[in-house]
Amino acid sequence: MNQFTSVHDVQDIGKLLRDALALKENPYAHKSLGENKTLGLVFLNPSLRTRLSTQKAALNLGMSVMVMNMDKEGWALETQDGVVMNGTTVEHIREAAAVMGQYCDILGLRSFPKLADREEDYSEDFFNKFIAYSKVPVVSLESATRHPLQSLADLVTIKETWQGAGKPKVVLAWAPHIKALPQAVPNSFAEWMCKAQELDMLDFTIAQPEGYELSEDFSKGAAISYDLDAALSGADYIYVKNWSSYKDYGKVLPYPEGWMLTNEKLTVTNDARVMHCLPVRRDLELSAEVLDGPSSLVIHEAGNRLWAAQAVLKQMLEKL
Ligand code: CP
Repeated sequence: MNQFTSVHDVQDIGKLLRDALALKENPYAHKSLGENKTLGLVFLNPSLRTRLSTQKAALNLGMSVMVMNMDKEGWALETQDGVVMNGTTVEHIREAAAVMGQYCDILGLRSFPKLADREEDYSEDFFNKFIAYSKVPVVSLESATRHPLQSLADLVTIKETWQGAGKPKVVLAWAPHIKALPQAVPNSFAEWMCKAQELDMLDFTIAQPEGYELSEDFSKGAAISYDLDAALSGADYIYVKNWSSYKDYGKVLPYPEGWMLTNEKLTVTNDARVMHCLPVRRDLELSAEVLDGPSSLVIHEAGNRLWAAQAVLKQMLEKL
């Protein structure tokens, strides 16, 4: 694997899932693979899980890790070409990414969308420039439109825990929030689940209020529902997540009552397991009774972030 920015960078999803679960069984099986190799993790936004799991994954493979909190500790970056830099930006992405590529064998980048201009965010201009100028393999730690390490961990979690006959019914369920959140996690989850559905691994439904439809570039192939209770009927996995509107870009639109998942809502499911990428706002986005109850997979899922990251780094190191 030369880079990891979406499911489209993965040649064999089955092998990546097997690698992740094998690493979970034997974390230090490849402890010399990353010897004398350096991973640089560049954050333009906060992180708990992605930061720690990716560092630990690299350490398990014998790599050295450097973390750069670019938003707090780096120079203010210019991303546009042809501008006279007589304003607040101090360093151009052309030099900054190229220099980081001199120090690191693999780079990771987290860069959230601004949620002001859909075309700009969905062009992934900043991410693509970082990849082009760094000239080393890049792993996405969450971009404007995708969070593939999270989605891989989510699929690992479903594969690992599913014990039923046949294919599980997986439902991505929109949930309330007070802030406008990016579509990166649901886009990416939808993209990975649609791919898994193509591979006959599961059946996938997205439930959302009117106006919260994701881009078809990510959701094509999913069953779409505007009725949460109907979508939850017979569900085996519920992936709870808020996102802001894609159509009315970045807006928090009005929505009907009843979109927060509760124990009462779980009664129509097939004893569904409940997932969330975290962080989660309790009793706003997801009820505390569900989070603290036997259906919740959120900590298990967060634990699997480590094995997802380690499987990706392993496959990247094997290509260096
Ligand atoms: N789920 C996730 O990416 O968590 P962090 O934002 O804390 O890294």
